[in-house]
Amino acid sequence: METATVLKQNETSEYDSVLTVHFKNTIGKGSFGQVKYCVAKIKNHLVGFAVKILRERSAVYQDNRWLIDNEVSVATRVQHPNLITFFFNVKYHRSVYIYMEYCKHGDMKQIIRKYGPYVEPDARLLFAQIVAAIEYLHGQDIAHRDLKPENVLLNHRNQVKVSDFGLADYFRDPISNRRILSYSRCGTKTFMPPEVLKSTSRGYNAMFFDIWSLGGVLHYMLTGKIPFDGRTTKVMLAQQTSGDIVLSRSEYEKTVSDHAKRLIWLMLEPDILKRARISVIKQSEWMTSDSHTFPAKY
Ligand SMILES: Nc1ncnc2c1ncn2[C@@H]1O[C@H](COP(=O)(O)OP(=O)(O)O)[C@@H](O)[C@H]1O
Ligand SMILES: [Mg+2]
Repeated sequence: METATVLKQNETSEYDSVLTVHFKNTIGKGSFGQVKYCVAKIKNHLVGFAVKILRERSAVYQDNRWLIDNEVSVATRVQHPNLITFFFNVKYHRSVYIYMEYCKHGDMKQIIRKYGPYVEPDARLLFAQIVAAIEYLHGQDIAHRDLKPENVLLNHRNQVKVSDFGLADYFRDPISNRRILSYSRCGTKTFMPPEVLKSTSRGYNAMFFDIWSLGGVLHYMLTGKIPFDGRTTKVMLAQQTSGDIVLSRSEYEKTVSDHAKRLIWLMLEPDILKRARISVIKQSEWMTSDSHTFPAKY
């Protein structure tokens, strides 16, 4: 078993400054490195963590250094029950280790692949938590910009923890205090709105990006499919702007309710002026339907 003794950067008197961490299995592989499960003894208790390991020498790290700095900067600023908690980050042997809370059930893509799409009462409970996380982030002037099922994690209590802040962006200028547009094209094409997929040279509102992605996530939760399946950017753009959504195809006519479809349409709205705002999502008929069953998948 691999172990490491790490000196925590943000030492507090609450914890010992030296921690022996036992690395266990790999629980995820993202674009920038692996994520491992590990345990450490803190005050005589074994505590499980997830640790994202980024090798400094890897080309992907060198090319995307800002993403890692960005992730740490955002993660240490935010605190919400539906956002992943980051504990500390450590540089050790030319690698960066980002320690965060462990989510036992993994990410929503893995869960849906294994168990199939959610039934609507379960989806509603979970989606409300994703919306709460995004509403909080927007309230902090931060847009996530990479919201997708792989970045929505579930802990041992089936509580949603939105993670992966590498592409998050501040949309308020700290000096003028005015809202600013984003210019970088980032994130995953399949969850990217048409105004970003097309061109970002004129700038875009990053909050509306997240709303579109929320639509894609809900679509995935209810069908197990991405909303637009065009193979090229051109075809995908055409599907997005004409509303040729996978959900509207016949096989989902019976499995997805009209209220859910209506909400998804409101979020996957190509016209940003008509695209739902968070308040509209929260007040939608689907979100306010009265259903209190607890997700019972596991
Ligand atoms: N805290 C965690 N608990 C459990 N699994 C995790 C955790 N963090 C990440 N993972 C798994 O690792 C994958 C990649 O992690 P992520 O932070 O999204 O990396 P990347 O920035 O490379 O996409 C996730 O999609 C998920 O499956
Ligand atoms: Mg990710």
